[in-house]
Order: sequence, then C-alpha cells, then structure tokens
Amino acid sequence: PVKIVTIGGGSSYTPELMEGFIKRYDELPIREIWLVDIEDGKEKMEIVGAMAQRMWDASPYDVKVHMTLDRREALPGADFVTTQFRVGLLNARIKDERIPFSYGMLGQETNGAGGIFKAFRTIPVILGVVEDMKELCPDAWLINFTNPSGMVTEAVMKYGKWDKVIGLCNVPVGAMMKEPETIGKTLDQLTYKFAGLNHFHWHKVYDENGKEVTQDIIDAMYEGKDGGLPANIHDIPFFKEQLDTMKMIPCGYHRYYYRQQEMLAHGLEEYSDPEVGTRGQQVKQTEAELFELYKDPNLDHKPEQLAKRGGAHYSDAACETIASIYSNANRHIVVTTKNNGAVPDLPADCAVEVSAYIGSTGAKAIAFGELQPAEKGWLQCMKNMEHCVEAAAVTGDYGMALQAFILNPQIPSGENAKRVLDELLLAHKKYLPQF
Ligand code: NAD
Ligand code: G6P
Ligand code: MN
Repeated sequence: PVKIVTIGGGSSYTPELMEGFIKRYDELPIREIWLVDIEDGKEKMEIVGAMAQRMWDASPYDVKVHMTLDRREALPGADFVTTQFRVGLLNARIKDERIPFSYGMLGQETNGAGGIFKAFRTIPVILGVVEDMKELCPDAWLINFTNPSGMVTEAVMKYGKWDKVIGLCNVPVGAMMKEPETIGKTLDQLTYKFAGLNHFHWHKVYDENGKEVTQDIIDAMYEGKDGGLPANIHDIPFFKEQLDTMKMIPCGYHRYYYRQQEMLAHGLEEYSDPEVGTRGQQVKQTEAELFELYKDPNLDHKPEQLAKRGGAHYSDAACETIASIYSNANRHIVVTTKNNGAVPDLPADCAVEVSAYIGSTGAKAIAFGELQPAEKGWLQCMKNMEHCVEAAAVTGDYGMALQAFILNPQIPSGENAKRVLDELLLAHKKYLPQF
C-alpha cells in the first residue's frame, strides 16, 4: 500500500488530485494521504481536506486523509511526495503580476519578472523539503507541480542533489486531449513527441502509420478547432507562416515570445481595468467560489468550476506519473527530467520538458534530436536564463538576479530592469531570506 504526501495540500486543486487517485486505485493502491500546509493555509486545508475525505468515503476504497502543519510529521515512510504549494499565496502572485505591468512589462505567473520572483521564493522552500526527505523518506519520489515547474525541478536535481524527481505540467495533457479530434483521430492512434522546457516546449505528431501529421493539426487549428489552450492564456494566434516553416506546434506560452507585443498589450489592458485585473486577481475570485462549494458537506466529487483554472486536468499528469512509476508501466508522459541527450542542443545534465517513458526507475527521456536555428537559439537563451535564476535563488546574489533579468526576453534592459527588480525584492522581502 502506498503513502502519498502532498505539500501545499490546501490548494483548490486537491480534489482534482483525489479524483485522479480514485480513478487509478486498482493500479495504485493507496493507504493514506497526508496533506501538508502552513498556518496561512490552515483554513483552506481544513475545508479541502474534509472534501477530499468525503470523496474517498464516497468511493469503494478505504483511504484516510490526514492533515498537518508540520511536514516532518507527514514525511516518514512516504512513497511519493507531491508538491503544489504557493509561497506567499495569491497575494504574492498578484504582486508578481502588478509590479512588472506598472513598468510596462509582462506580469505573469511563470514568465518574465514575475516568474523569476516565483522561483526566488519557491526554490529555497523546495530545497528544505528535499533536506527533510533525505532524512525521513530517502526512497520517495518527489513529483513537483509547483511553478515555475521546470526551474524548481532543475534546482532540486542540481542544488538539492536529489535525482528522484519529476516535474509536471498540464499543458501537454491539454494538447493531447484536444488535438487528436481536430484531425478526426483519437489519442491512441497518434504518437506525440515533445521537447523543450516547461512552458517553452514544442511538439510533433505522427499517425499510426508513422506519417507525420503535425501540419494537419496546425491547419485544423487555423480553421478554428480547439487545440487545448489552457484557460489562463489569452488566445492571440501565432503567425501561420512561422509555424509552417517551424513544422512544430509551439506550446500556448510561446505566445508571450512570438506575439510579445500583442500579449503585453492585452495583459496591460486587463491590469489597467479595475473591473478585470490581473489573472491572479481573477483567480482569487474563482478560488473563493470553489472554497464555498467545498464547504458543502454534501459535495463529494470535483465540481465543474475547477475547469476555470488554468491547471485543469493536472491530475492526469500527476496521478498517471505516480501510477506508472509504481506499476512500472513505462507509459509515455511529458515530464521535466534530466536531458541525457534527448535535446542535444542543451547540456546532458540540465532539466528539459520532454516525452519520456515512465517506469519504476523514473523517466527515460525520448530522443528528440537537434532543433532548427530559431528554436535552438530560443532554447539556449531560455535555459541559460533559468540557470541564472536558480543560481540567484540559491545564493541571493544581486548581480546574478540582474543577469537573469537582463537575459529574460520579457524584460527590456536598462534602468527600469533594475528598478523593477528592486521593487519586487522589497515587495517580497518576507519570502526572500536569501537576498
Ligand atoms: P494556492 O495559492 O492554493 O497554494 C497552495 C497551498 O500552498 C496553499 O494552501 C498555501 O498555504 C500552501 N503553502 C504556501 N507555502 C507553503 C509551504 N512553505 N509549505 C507548505 N504549503 C505551503 O496555489 P494553487 O493555485 O493551488 O497552485 C499551487 C501551485 O501549483 C502553484 O505553485 C502553482 O503555480 C502551481 N501550478 C502548477 C501547474 C503546472 O502546470 N505545473 C498548474 C497549476 C498550478
Ligand atoms: C496552466 C499551467 C500552469 C499555470 C496555471 C495557471 O496553464 O500549466 O503552470 O501556472 O495553469 O492557472 P491559473 O488558473 O492559476 O491562472
Ligand atoms: Mn504548467
């Protein structure tokens, strides 16, 4: 029987995780689930934890959901530790969004200055989790969902020296759920190959005869078919001529780079409109509605409203990964893992988000091969930017933080880059002991 520990258990996504485990119980016989949170998230955890227990009670399985504010109480004997915490909660996210926008720069949860600061707040905490795991559950797998998922996962490997880690994102899941029907196929008829970084990957698709159908999907999406873009990303279309030449499907987040001008203009418009606000401000509303629903003692299944969140269906990635490790299923899942040559344009020991086979020894990244110059250039820039962010997050080196800011394509260099850095450092002081 399996023991799961979920750090950030008070998340509104927890019912999604429970649903995923219940669905896979035959393959993954769970005995106990421990939700871990902190004082600031206690109330949320109690509401969603009771809801989680009701979900299990309504199922045929006998699973106990425990709750604690002390992760060291939860970790002993864990088989899988999943992380879905948000340091500073949504108020910190809103600062990550509003402060860059106030300088005319993109304010976004995982991209630009905001994404960098989310990494600065999160990496020290995850490294603390890893230290506790070394002591209390040295054989456990760490399944990270906490954003920025790619950098957080890489920091665990590189600075935490912990290799039993897999990073996840729901974006590839969404694409694989929706794209097949755009060309009249089902997922099991197609082979997907993803490569790149978290929120910065591309993919290609092949049919059951091995014929590439990437272009057919691109064409179908330009005819208005739904390609599974997450709810949090505004849909400015890519330039079709660019994709026709690229011959790959970019992830939804590439819009911030390929249509930077339009995405920034849209973000600034929402930020400036007090009736709309940033995504974090919008999500606060959705979250409040969700927790009102979770309080209902008769609710024992995941409510529809959770689909309004950008991370919908993430349990399909998380639970599928855990089940696939546990039962050594070697299924294809898109994960952040060590490159090991899958993307030869990047170092072998860095983290990449790629198609992989997941089994009892973890992820075996599938070779993707060299990229064309444009994608290679972006990838190397973004990966090295990530390296600077992680180094600054660990050391608190101001010059390194500035290097990351200046390298990041969402932050124009110059006085304002330094000003926005300084303002964010001040705004998040409480969560940045390293600086
Ligand atoms: P949330 O604001 O509900 O936070 C989840 C919980 O984490 C809160 O209850 C909070 O109190 C708790 N927390 C904060 N600091 C903690 C700490 N040090 N230890 C333990 N718990 C702590 O967040 P959410 O909107 O549910 O998102 C959770 C995380 O998952 C975020 O980092 C978010 O970016 C990420 N996410 C990732 C994806 C993906 O594709 N990888 C998708 C959606 C969300
Ligand atoms: C998905 C992503 C997450 C992202 C989240 C935001 O797009 O894969 O990594 O941060 O949704 O969703 P939210 O509803 O919080 O804006
Ligand atoms: Mn993601």
